[in-house]
Amino acid sequence: MSNAISSLMNLVSFTPEKFEKLFSLSEALRGTPPAVDFPGRTAALLFFEPSTRTRMSFESACFRCGLGPLVFDGGPMTSLEKGETVEDSILNVVAMDPTVVVVRCGDSVPLDQIAKKIPMPLINAGWGKVGHPTQALLDVATLKRKWGQLSGKKLLIVGDIKHSRVAQSHFELLPLLGVKVGICGPEQFLQSHAGVEVFRDLTAALKWADAVMALRVQLERHSDSHQLSPESYRGFYGLTAKSLQNLKREAWILHPGPVNHGVEIDTEIFQDPRSLIFEQVRSGVYVREAVIRMSLRGELR
Ligand code: CP
Repeated sequence: MSNAISSLMNLVSFTPEKFEKLFSLSEALRGTPPAVDFPGRTAALLFFEPSTRTRMSFESACFRCGLGPLVFDGGPMTSLEKGETVEDSILNVVAMDPTVVVVRCGDSVPLDQIAKKIPMPLINAGWGKVGHPTQALLDVATLKRKWGQLSGKKLLIVGDIKHSRVAQSHFELLPLLGVKVGICGPEQFLQSHAGVEVFRDLTAALKWADAVMALRVQLERHSDSHQLSPESYRGFYGLTAKSLQNLKREAWILHPGPVNHGVEIDTEIFQDPRSLIFEQVRSGVYVREAVIRMSLRGELR
């Protein structure tokens, strides 16, 4: 198996056919008991930045496949505390011969270069602001379960687009699948992309959308503080019972998590019948199991 081409760094060369295959496999996995296909083998799950959903869904996926997860969880009690670099940490765990490597890390780590050096697939589980491909795949799989046909649908992404790896991966994936993308948020959070519709006003944006995804304001990735207070942000861009009156009755509400309650989305919206927030998390297990299985078969190339 050629490693570099079965790794998953981004979605730029994904195709509708590859997405259909991934979706069908994830649906089949959802409906069947775990199939332990890799007895005695391991998967390295290396998280150099915090995670709950991604880490634990990859762990669940590994247990379902029969891959023993070797979880590296941040800095404390690892040799990062002694000054070992992230790249050296990854290469040392790679030397233990895991079957697949899953990494979450910051922008400064040359993850794509590391993927080319190692003899097994490397899956990007959230790489700084560069991308979060498995999140975009599971978001779209969640929507496809509701919509059936994706082509022609309209997804609105609201909030901190500029600092969001989730948004970057959606910008790669959605146009390939014929889904139209709109963005809305404060000027300092927006980033222009070819083919992406930019809305200044949330009301107009929500009326346009077939689904809306709120993003967290990522203060940890800002070099300066954003200019809106949480209250003002909620007033202009928050998904609230009032603002969502402008969303079609048959449209869907998503959030990749984690959530700033009462800022980009109100807690009560989790109970809105249009909310897919926990469905996204559930899809994450099966989509990530499908990603692992396809990467090991060389089917992500
Ligand atoms: N959506 C997402 O990546 O969540 P975690 O940071 O909890 O993994």
